[in-house]
Parts: sequence; structure tokens; C-alpha cells
Amino acid sequence: MAKRPVIIDCDPGQDDAINLLLAMASPDDLDILGITTVAGNVPLSLTERNTRQMCDIGGRTDLLVFAGCDRPMQRELLTAENVHGSTGIDGVDIVEPETPLADGHAVDFIIDSLLSATQAIALVPTGPLTNIGTAIQRNPAILDRVAEIVLMGGAMREGGNHSPSAEFNILADPHAADIVFRCGRPITVFGLDVTHQVLATVERRERIRSIANPAGQATAGMLDFFNRHDTAKYQSLGAPLHDPCTVAYLLQPDLFELKACNLTVETGSELTMGHTAVDFWRVTDRPHNIRWAHAVDADGFYDLLVQRLERFSDE
Ligand code: BDR
Ligand code: CA
Repeated sequence: MAKRPVIIDCDPGQDDAINLLLAMASPDDLDILGITTVAGNVPLSLTERNTRQMCDIGGRTDLLVFAGCDRPMQRELLTAENVHGSTGIDGVDIVEPETPLADGHAVDFIIDSLLSATQAIALVPTGPLTNIGTAIQRNPAILDRVAEIVLMGGAMREGGNHSPSAEFNILADPHAADIVFRCGRPITVFGLDVTHQVLATVERRERIRSIANPAGQATAGMLDFFNRHDTAKYQSLGAPLHDPCTVAYLLQPDLFELKACNLTVETGSELTMGHTAVDFWRVTDRPHNIRWAHAVDADGFYDLLVQRLERFSDE
């Protein structure tokens, strides 16, 4: 199959970082045109830095990394150091990355890449949707060249993880999310209902720890940190590996079960701000605008992750 051109938009975050490594381990499947970063789990200066450090670890210092929006479209900046640590990627040693920061703003890169694309591009957002929403608002003509949007965000059965009603990425910028979900392009959504099924159990973490290359070791270290907070919060057997569901889906879609639904974002009520109203049982006549992931082969997911991380060289 031809390589699929993708732009990954992220806010690392341990799980964003592991998603980047999974993508970098898959050069026969994905042509990473660039990685755009956004303020989210930690401020922008850290998310762009963390992204560049992952490019170093993945041996891809050639990748274009752009800094984007440093705050949501309308709301105050919301961060999650309580989950990810003060660096965003606690669990790895922080170094000054070799991978440079590309000139220009992430939103301009997204717009220019799409307008000049000869082949439609998949957008893969794993943070607040500020960069993507801003790009669509500024130049809706880009949508013609968006092949699909594959994103992590939202929750239905699981309820919220950052407010009682809302998942972090959507709560952080509900107005941007609203623009994205109304954009009319195919959207596949990996919310907490499915990400809470891919738990980094002790056995799975030990499998990853036995991968003797820098990517495997960095992933194991980040999962150890991520795990402490999440197992205490959810009383679960391991931390949910949210963001890597997006790239795993691009690599092996049959891991997931999807259902076409309508998803509408709450932007009016402060109580339920950022809630994703997913019409799973078709109780409204609102048109389908997304495919909602609701089940996953979790063992298959970790097999894929391990197999791909093993591809990195051991230097
Ligand atoms: C999402 O929020 C962040 O904490 C994670 O990186 C993930 O993208 C999960 O709610
Ligand atoms: Ca994220």
C-alpha cells in the first residue's frame, strides 16, 4: 500500500510522545510531512521541545517540527501537569534536542501543506484542537485536501477525566473542537471509551522494557510515570494509552470497532463545557459526522506497539 501522508498535531504528554515514536517506527506506512505542536498538557515551549526530543530518540532529526498556538481560541490555557509531570514527559531524562524547531507557525504550515498537496493529507490531532480549528477558520479551502481526521478526544460512557463531563483535549479548547466536528470531512474519534481499554498493565510494560533500544527504554520510562497517577485515579491495572490509538488505527484499522454517529460539543454551559454528546443509539436526527471507536483488541494493540518499537536501532 502507498505511504499515507500525515501531519501529526500534538501536545506531548507521555502518550503523545509514544504515539510519535509509533509513527516514526512506521516509515513504510506513514509519510510524516510535519509535526505541529500546541499548548495543552504543558505550555507550548515544552510541547515543542518534547516533540523534538522524541524525534531525536526516533532517529528522525530531519522531521519538521513547528510550534503553533500557545493558548485556546477563546478560553484560558488549561494544562495537566498533575497527570504528565512538570515537563510533560516525566519518565525520560530531559536533554536539549538536536532536532531544530522549524521556522514559521504551525497553523501556516498546516494551511500551506494542504493547499499545495497533490495527495490528500490525513490530520492526526492528539491534543487540544486549537491549531486545526484555527487553520480551518482561517482558510476553509484547505478542507478539500483533508483526506480524514483521526483524533483522540471526547468521552461518552466513560464520563470526563478533567471535569465530570469532559475529556481533557475537548475541554481545553471546546470552540476549536466545535469547528473541527462541523468541518464535513471524515473524522474518526478515539475517546476515553476506547482508550480506557488499552491499559499499560505490568506485563505489557515489562514487554516494552525488554526492548533494548532508546525508543523502547523511553517508552517504558514514560509509562512507569504515567502509570502512577492513572492507576491511583482509575483504580485500574495500568494507565490508558490514549493517543497511540490514533496511529495504531492508521497502521492496523481492524484492531478497532467503530460506529458512525453524530457528535456535538458543548460550548455554552460552564457546568458541562467540552462534553461530547455522542448520539450512539441514534436518538436524534442529527447527521452522522464522525465514526466513534468503542472497542479495541487491546492485546493486538500492544503487539503492534512492541513490534514497531523493536524496529528502532539499538543505538
Ligand atoms: C488526553 O489528554 C492528555 O492528557 C493526553 O495526552 C491525551 O491526549 C486524554 O484525555
Ligand atoms: Ca495528548
